Amino acid sequence: MNVLCLIFLVGVAASVHGQTLVEEVKGPKHGKKVVCYIATWAVYRPDPGRFSLEDLEPALCTHLVYSFAGLNETSNTIKSLDPWQDLETDYGKAGYKRLVAMKNKYPHLKVTLAIGGWNEGSPRYSNMASKAESRAAFIKSVLLMLNNYKFDGLDLDWEYPTKRDGKPYDRENFVLLVKELSEAFEPHGYILTAALGAGKSTMETAYDLAKLSRYLDLIHMMCYDYHGTWDGVLGANAPLKGINDNDTLSVEWTVEYLLAHGVSPYKMVLGLPMYGRTFLLTDPGSRVLEYGSTPVKATGFKGPYTGEAGFMGYNEICAETMNKSSPWVYHWHEQSATPYLRDGEKVISYDNGRSIAIKVKMAIDKGLGGLMVWSIDTDDFRGNCNETDAYIDFVERHRRMVNDPVVNKAVRNLNIPDVTLVGSKGPAYVLQDNQLHLRLPQPKYTNYALMQTINDAITLAVEEKKILDEVQRLESDNEVRSEKDKGGNGHSLRSSVIGIVLCALVALKF
Ligand SMILES: *[C@@H]1O[C@H](CO)[C@@H](O)[C@H](O)[C@H]1NC(C)=O
Ligand SMILES: *[C@@H]1O[C@H](CO)[C@@H](O)[C@H](O)[C@H]1NC(C)=O
Ligand SMILES: *[C@@H]1O[C@H](CO)[C@@H](O)[C@H](O)[C@H]1NC(C)=O
Ligand SMILES: *[C@@H]1O[C@H](CO)[C@@H](O)[C@H](O)[C@H]1NC(C)=O
Repeated sequence: MNVLCLIFLVGVAASVHGQTLVEEVKGPKHGKKVVCYIATWAVYRPDPGRFSLEDLEPALCTHLVYSFAGLNETSNTIKSLDPWQDLETDYGKAGYKRLVAMKNKYPHLKVTLAIGGWNEGSPRYSNMASKAESRAAFIKSVLLMLNNYKFDGLDLDWEYPTKRDGKPYDRENFVLLVKELSEAFEPHGYILTAALGAGKSTMETAYDLAKLSRYLDLIHMMCYDYHGTWDGVLGANAPLKGINDNDTLSVEWTVEYLLAHGVSPYKMVLGLPMYGRTFLLTDPGSRVLEYGSTPVKATGFKGPYTGEAGFMGYNEICAETMNKSSPWVYHWHEQSATPYLRDGEKVISYDNGRSIAIKVKMAIDKGLGGLMVWSIDTDDFRGNCNETDAYIDFVERHRRMVNDPVVNKAVRNLNIPDVTLVGSKGPAYVLQDNQLHLRLPQPKYTNYALMQTINDAITLAVEEKKILDEVQRLESDNEVRSEKDKGGNGHSLRSSVIGIVLCALVALKF
């Protein structure tokens, strides 16, 4: 009994302590991870696309990831790829130190360093991971780097093991590297995460997912770049669903694959693109655009700040649409649950508040650990645009829920608070005149439309899930009851017998 009492007391103490802490948290309060990658080269973009670390709004993220560091192939050690921006030697800009220092004002933050990325390629990581000595040299250098700059951990962005001139044995060696890193990190409490590719063939060949899920703290799924000009036909950058049942190139397919291959849902962080893919139609006169079949040219067009063919930041895309004489026509593509813009031969497939809210909802419904963004520097961080309609699907579902008698029963069981009691602050789903009422979130900032949508949509989705879980419980209860009415087998009798036996055992033990 003493042990039980002790556990109880510790529990009470922890919850009291927890409450005092909650007041101080400046970050998201929904309990899910919001991982924000920063493409630190965004500081070289022309104004107003230029993004420096001071443009961050750290309250919108739980994790900040400084991207990227690289690998010195000679010594197999981690190195800065831009010493002038990253370090403070030779009057450098001290980026590492400036980002980590944000924890002083925002203690909820975890700040990690990412190594790799597309431009680093695969072979040097393949070589490093292939021998025990070179892995050891790498790990030693990482520990030094993290300790020097007081980072909270490392994010591995090897793109990708076994691919892009990697070797077949990378799959196993990647696990060894991750395992050895996690063991070396343990005494220091460092976080180890990795960004993984979301394509079917990458997931199949590059990763031993069950093992990676054991050793990694979080898995950042790069659920974007499913389609681009490389297909030769039009397609969505990050479609929720594929264009038919056999299409594996979709966010939903990726998430289902990971769950089926042993990734713990709470470790999975769903990546969202803060950018779109641009296309030039082969036939500018095409009347009907069809994803997966309308032909496009080999190269797309550029955005004014990011300057990369085939790519446009959300801030560049939304700036185009804000122009009063804008020729762009907005379309919603139902199957992929993403929008696109068209102006003659030019098409942009991208994500806006609505498509992002839909993906957030899916992530919460599947019990995932949170959301990630690539990358925060192309959100509308200056607040030049207006996001509208981000929550129209939440509104639509709410409209259908309101008059459902089972929902009403669930709402009573859950003690959803009355709006007159909680006032203007408090949850989004409230009672008003005894009816379920949805209060849409009011943006806290005039900028960062997408980041705000992610955080608000998480809160909405978590509350909606609570109601629908209760609905499901009621409905399955009903099933059991009607089964019993039909002379069912008495589940509850059996479980109460088990319960009594268990209680007796517990009583004997103490
Ligand atoms: C890479 O490591 C080698 C050996 O330690 C060293 O001589 C060289 O300066 C390093 N290169 C960079 C770019 O850090
Ligand atoms: C999907 O694949 C199956 C088997 O290969 C094929 O029979 C079917 O026609 C395909 N469906 C579509 C919509 O492509
Ligand atoms: C708005 O669009 C028009 C027509 O395409 C263009 O001429 C003009 O330069 C644009 N204005 C801005 C501020 O981008
Ligand atoms: C955005 O919407 C607000 C409120 O509806 C309005 O006052 C503001 O002018 C809009 N901003 C732009 C850039 O259109």
